[in-house]
Amino acid sequence: MSRIAYVNGRYLPDAQAKVAIDDRGYQFADGVYEVCEVRGGRLVDERRHMARLDYSLNELRIARPMSAAALSIVLRETVRRNRVRDGIVYLQITRGVARRDFAFPPTDTRPAVVVTARSNDLARLEQLATEGIAVITVPDIRWQRVDIKSVALLANVLAKQTAREQGAREAWLVDEAGRITEGASSNAWIVSRDGKLITRPLGRDILSGITRSVVIDVIKGQGLAFEERAFTVEEAYGAREAFVTSASQIVLPVVSIDGRPIGNGAPGLIATALRRDYHRHAEIS
Ligand code: PDD
Repeated sequence: MSRIAYVNGRYLPDAQAKVAIDDRGYQFADGVYEVCEVRGGRLVDERRHMARLDYSLNELRIARPMSAAALSIVLRETVRRNRVRDGIVYLQITRGVARRDFAFPPTDTRPAVVVTARSNDLARLEQLATEGIAVITVPDIRWQRVDIKSVALLANVLAKQTAREQGAREAWLVDEAGRITEGASSNAWIVSRDGKLITRPLGRDILSGITRSVVIDVIKGQGLAFEERAFTVEEAYGAREAFVTSASQIVLPVVSIDGRPIGNGAPGLIATALRRDYHRHAEIS
């Protein structure tokens, strides 16, 4: 079945879905995106994803291309037309198409919108969760506003490729003080030897992950010990458990970091329980 993409007001088969070469997303990575999980054909945590989208658009002063209600319909329609039951829906908004000039284009330039959807191989994801994933660490060389979910992801691309080449699934990015910021496409967590769940606090140096925020709600709801603070690579090596969170993978246990086994080298109990319970706490609409 050919995939269908929404591009600036039209639903088009993949082969006809095109953007202009002067699109500022293509020229300058001048745009933002969201990835929302689809489960049973419904959107997971849509409200929180749309709130973060608004934040990213505001920070970059990109106009909202359509109302929240219209956007919601487009997301659902794209999921429906692609017959996605379990997978993701991807939304990208750029500052639009204009003659190449670094400064903002004329105010009447319309933002460009693309929405795509695709299925995930749930069995493969479950297998990954059962096995746990390997992570490597690399220096965090990104710009200083990664709280904005912009499509400027080159440093993340390079980090992920390094991971891939070393047989790992994710790269954890390390700041100049030797502390982990987050993963190339996920938030980073550890469980300390004394059972505290630890993740870096929000700021301009990490993305405010939606999965992260739901997991924090779950942790607080269950009265688990939780500390929002930066942790070092050394601490991570010595952790009882480690895991990553993201919309496309929910909670994935980490079983090795830089080749060193974490805990007993198998997926941790807390990460596994958080993964199992996640969708009972998420908003599914
Ligand atoms: N990545 N940090 C980074 C750098 C990310 O790219 C992502 C998400 C996250 C987790 O955020 P959330 O829980 O809202 O998905 C953290 C998405 C899935 C992606 O780029 O494909």
